[in-house]
Amino acid sequence: MARHLITSAIPYINGIKHLGNLVGSQLPADLFARYCRARGHEVLFLCATDEHGTPAELAAAKAGQPVAEYCAEMHTVQAEIARGFRLSFDHFGRSSSSQNHRLTQHFAKRLHDQGLIREVSETQMYSPTDGRYLPDRYIEGTCPNCGYDSARGDQCDNCTKQLDPVDLINPRSVISGATDLEMRVTKHLYLCQSQMKDELEKWIDSKTGWPVLTTSIAKKWLNDGDGLQDRGITRDLDWGIPVKRGDEDWPGMEGKVFYVWFDAPIEYIACAQEWVDAGKGTDWERWWRTDKGAEDVRYTQFMGKDNVPFHTLSFPATILGSREPWKLVDYIKSFNYLNYDGGQFSTSRGRGVFMDQALEILPADYWRWWLLSHAPESSDSEFTWENFQASVNKDLADVLGNFVSRVTKFCRSKFGETVPSGATYGAQETALIARLTSRIRDYEGHMEAMEVRKSAAALRAIWVEGNEYLQEVAPWSTFKQDPERAAMQTRLALNLIRLYAVLSSPFIPDAAAAMLAAMQTNDDNWPDEASAALEILAPGHAFSVPEVLFSKITDEAREDWQTRFSGIRG
Ligand code: MF3
Ligand code: ZN
Repeated sequence: MARHLITSAIPYINGIKHLGNLVGSQLPADLFARYCRARGHEVLFLCATDEHGTPAELAAAKAGQPVAEYCAEMHTVQAEIARGFRLSFDHFGRSSSSQNHRLTQHFAKRLHDQGLIREVSETQMYSPTDGRYLPDRYIEGTCPNCGYDSARGDQCDNCTKQLDPVDLINPRSVISGATDLEMRVTKHLYLCQSQMKDELEKWIDSKTGWPVLTTSIAKKWLNDGDGLQDRGITRDLDWGIPVKRGDEDWPGMEGKVFYVWFDAPIEYIACAQEWVDAGKGTDWERWWRTDKGAEDVRYTQFMGKDNVPFHTLSFPATILGSREPWKLVDYIKSFNYLNYDGGQFSTSRGRGVFMDQALEILPADYWRWWLLSHAPESSDSEFTWENFQASVNKDLADVLGNFVSRVTKFCRSKFGETVPSGATYGAQETALIARLTSRIRDYEGHMEAMEVRKSAAALRAIWVEGNEYLQEVAPWSTFKQDPERAAMQTRLALNLIRLYAVLSSPFIPDAAAAMLAAMQTNDDNWPDEASAALEILAPGHAFSVPEVLFSKITDEAREDWQTRFSGIRG
């Protein structure tokens, strides 16, 4: 038995995530966590909301709520939707937790004591009317490039030109509309990542088995231009973790907070503390401290490609720079982007299907199956309604659902609702078991390698074996001349349903649970040997015919959704 620490990139608090966000981190992390548990490993699977920074403040202002209240509410909303998708986090924490405050300030002190933090003076826009410094996104004005009158301080949404707030014509505060903005000098803390370049590079180079997507992004940041840059880790904002070293004040840093990208990954650790403080666990150090047992933990992180620099360089710089025995990540699984119907998913423009909307129209398993079997691994992938309809109807309804329904209904009509006994296996059964054995080993290999699409294809191939076997032995015709053989074939097929439930549960947990319930068993042990796994439901064992596992998506429903989601979310 191994111990797996698994984290998903923590989603921003500002609003409900779309399916592209889901498939890029939380969902594949859940797949892996469920698989590891099913294999009998000890798992700690953590996620949280990423609550600090300008986007959170802006979203709260837009909602007309104090930011703390907004975050608390959105956390509950996101947690509820995560449950809806059956994301099996051991804890879903909050980066604004007191645990994360303490730990972030602790890391800042350690880094300071190691001489890895320097102070830098910068000029920044200050708004006397608002009584605060304005981050780039809090400043709007006319674009010097195209004349658009609502260009943001960091970028013009009309012509996409990257801007500096000082470039804007007639700049004004987004908060108050004030135009009396002035440049002021302000001090910030920088993490001296450049001093750690060699150490980080050596560490990355030792990770020879990492996905190319992960290492190529890390290498690019290490060696681009002048190499790894020092990074500002503080901001002039109200909402965030106050800049302190441990519990001491930091002279000159009054009123400032840590940059959201400094405290967010630290939440991975704080979340384990929250898990203990919530009474769900007893010992977080054995997962996170290599001096307290975490040296034999295998730590895997899941994230979209835009997150890779922060996880391969910045967070490791924090961990290593502390010179304390924290656990470093062992494997980073990163994803490309999922596009939506000929364009991009967009949170700011409300384009695509969002997690709450998805669950309103179909159960979680339908989405889980499509998203995972089309995960954007080797390149970006695209959601289209046609493709979604086709996959659900073929893979889930025709292949898996139909198998379960045919077998259970046939048995009920010929032998009643108990597992029949009957003849011993013949050549067809022996051959089936041999094929299943090798397909199950394939499936396990891909799951262990976190090859999500390949795993889905391997699982589907296992389902297909069942249908092909049924077609081949056709118990409905065997029944007439040789009912004993038909009974044996049916018994094997009923056992296949149980086996499919076990193998499929990481992908489609609800359907898997329904299949086990129909087979009236709690035995969800992973199969060591296909032959033994197919003997578990013994003759005489009762079962029931389940409700339809998956309904097909009609053309009408598809067209309906296509139109409903073509516009912009209101
Ligand atoms: N909130 C970030 C995003 O959605 C991810 C933060 S991951 C962490 O892109 F490591 F910083 F926690
Ligand atoms: Zn412009």
